[in-house]
Amino acid sequence: MSNVDLTAKIPNNVDLAQDKRLLRALEQWQPNYLAWWKDMGPHGFQEKDVWLRTAIAVDAEGWAHFDYVKMPDYRWGIFLADPVADRRIGFGDACGGPAWAVVPGEHRNVLRRLIVTQGDTEPASVEQQRLLGHSAPSLYDLRNLFQVNVEEGRHLWAMVYLLHSQFGRDGREEAEELLQRRSGNPDKPRILGAFNAPIENWLDFFMFTMFTDRDGKYQLLALAESGFDPLARTTRFMLTEEAHHMFVGETGVERVVQRSAELMRQDPNGDVRAQGGIPLDVIQKHLNLWFALSLDLFGGEISSNAASYFAAGLKGRAYEDKFSDHSALHESYRMPVVKQGKLIEEDVPLRNAMNEVLRDAYVDDCQRGVDRWNKRLEEAGLPDRLRLPSKRFYRHIGIYADLPFDPDGNLVGGPASPRREANAEWQRRRGEWLPSADDKAYVASLQKAVRQPGQIANWLARPARGIKGLPFEYEYVRLD
Ligand SMILES: [Fe+2]
Ligand SMILES: [Fe+2]
Repeated sequence: MSNVDLTAKIPNNVDLAQDKRLLRALEQWQPNYLAWWKDMGPHGFQEKDVWLRTAIAVDAEGWAHFDYVKMPDYRWGIFLADPVADRRIGFGDACGGPAWAVVPGEHRNVLRRLIVTQGDTEPASVEQQRLLGHSAPSLYDLRNLFQVNVEEGRHLWAMVYLLHSQFGRDGREEAEELLQRRSGNPDKPRILGAFNAPIENWLDFFMFTMFTDRDGKYQLLALAESGFDPLARTTRFMLTEEAHHMFVGETGVERVVQRSAELMRQDPNGDVRAQGGIPLDVIQKHLNLWFALSLDLFGGEISSNAASYFAAGLKGRAYEDKFSDHSALHESYRMPVVKQGKLIEEDVPLRNAMNEVLRDAYVDDCQRGVDRWNKRLEEAGLPDRLRLPSKRFYRHIGIYADLPFDPDGNLVGGPASPRREANAEWQRRRGEWLPSADDKAYVASLQKAVRQPGQIANWLARPARGIKGLPFEYEYVRLD
């Protein structure tokens, strides 16, 4: 595997020292990045020692090194997965042709857009999470938050490297703008909706890393198939980091569920709230919210853009190898569409349904996580179960956008109900399905920092194990 030069000012395995122009450009961007990190990164913990892993190699085993690091000293850098010899484009019209080592002129604008859109999500999530450290339920969780944050910072580096190395002046300008947009700022918002939504508490954070980081996984899987080889190689390495983010989310929600189940059983009336835990219906509402916001990130169900990305070999399906027909020209995708207030099934040419194909793979993966959470409820002898809402619920993008679907995927009031009445009915019932002001206030009331090693907030179960063989009691963040 290619060596990582960790001692360089910008750690990398792309022989940056050989390309003086690129090196200079990135070295000019670096202080701006650090200024952004100090301004918009985790608030209040920049000088603390955090037990972090840093990439030191890009192969599957042992790529990471663990040690105490102050976050601004983290070795952010540029790591690409090793090249595949004689790599070929795996799908679309140019299937079988050689992969591109340099951005092809005819695809330049589209690729830049795809890279900027992916890149924008990385600093956005750091901004969304910047205050959470002050209410961390344990030092273990605090450390995991910071691990996710520094790696999202590195993902920004990954995309900025592509912009600088392949897109000339436009790329450099885009790289600057990635540091200028701000999550939730109405004047200069981040590009995608879910990345402007506030992450106000740790239940939001766990749901975000479960559902929204998992969208990231699927976008990266689709880009890892790209015929544009530098993009494929960089996203392949990002996926290894992404896995940890989803672990944080999936096990985080699992621990909330497990603790709620324990507290329900402890209370004579089965009342979780009376015991200071989070009720299952409140968990379900947060699940509904973040699942729906994350589904929107895949784009419209019927999309000519998605078709052209696929045709051009720029963005494939997750695990394209598993499909037998890589042209996707002869099949169609059957999906429910709304016609005159009714849901009817329609066949869409498969290339135009590529967003939906990717979304389906994502939904299956989410379902696996929900099943795991439900196992905890089952083991606790409780009849309650969590579930994913319909793909049509609370959508803001695509053919179901802003239509009054309930979590079962039915139009509120039925097909005969006039739209205005249905919308009013949906609004009336909103608090049954999405976190209400009361729910938010209650969850907020539980967000108190726990800072002693080995201790944990009452609403959350301890993890099954600590990090890298260390116990849960380890001092993962040194606070003094
Ligand atoms: Fe990321
Ligand atoms: Fe992530």
